[in-house]
Amino acid sequence: MTTTQGLRLIVAPNVGEVVRLAGNRIQAGLRAKPQGFVLGTATGGTMEPLYAHLAWRETASRMLDVDADLGGFEHVSLRNIAATFGLDEYFGVPQAFYGQTYRAFMELHLFSKVGLSNNTHLPDWRINDPEQARLACQAYEELIRSVGGIDLQLLGLGGNGHIAFNEPFSSFASRTRLIGLDRRTVVDNARYFLSPDESRGLGVEPGKSPYEKMVSGMWTDRQRAFFELVLNERVPNAAMTMGIGTILEARALLMLVTGAAKRAALHAMLFGPITEGVPATSLRTHSDALVLADREAIDDEVAELIGLPSDPEATLEGVVID
Ligand code: F6R
Repeated sequence: MTTTQGLRLIVAPNVGEVVRLAGNRIQAGLRAKPQGFVLGTATGGTMEPLYAHLAWRETASRMLDVDADLGGFEHVSLRNIAATFGLDEYFGVPQAFYGQTYRAFMELHLFSKVGLSNNTHLPDWRINDPEQARLACQAYEELIRSVGGIDLQLLGLGGNGHIAFNEPFSSFASRTRLIGLDRRTVVDNARYFLSPDESRGLGVEPGKSPYEKMVSGMWTDRQRAFFELVLNERVPNAAMTMGIGTILEARALLMLVTGAAKRAALHAMLFGPITEGVPATSLRTHSDALVLADREAIDDEVAELIGLPSDPEATLEGVVID
């Protein structure tokens, strides 16, 4: 289990420790390349505590000597990042729903918090024409190449093993492109496009996916018709995403996996066959991929296979899985 290919796994006791280690990894990247460091960004629930940590670290380092605690090195400001590239963005978002875009997510959680204003790239959420999207995706690839490629790409793990919006059976050679989203994904995403009152009107807790209620057959005709309208008029059913081939070209990959909902996907990614059926298994073909997981994300079988210490406070360092 020790080749240069194959990913390195670290299991930390909790989310706080996962994001601290991820912050250290980003700092190491910046220190190694203080000029011209290019960061690939991801969105989603897993990234929120990471960005909150990065923002805290950025502010705290101006006032306190936090680095001795965090990594033992002097903090390099994230403003030194030369460019960022987001993994993906919705296609055809109505103007009024800018707040649900990945651009808005990144502005809110990271860019505005650390003062990154230039060279923050994501596929353009305003695009709603497929041909325009095709050209924009090509231009995105060229832009990544023109800055010399991505030094460190952040990744989350989908419950079905997806990375970015590359759903199962996406080619490992795929490039940045427009893709249709599974109906299930669209229904799940509807949670972000309903007001709290509208959610409650559907009998769904605000912020929760309406999927279970929808398939339960408990909705009235009116509720059903309203939800269809929301799906048709608000929720994007396509996205622009970096391809798996594009992602694998980053010089280093850093994936964060937290919470029990990711157990099965993480198990398949680490120990299942390397297959396009589980896009995240492509990380095992990369020469510099680090996965930071919390204990919650580790099922019993994986715990045994990697020799996870029983002490819940212990961190398991550096298991190489190929
Ligand atoms: C987001 C992205 C997705 C998420 C994944 C996990 O830019 O590319 O692949 O990383 O769906 O999402 P969360 O973190 O919300 O569980």
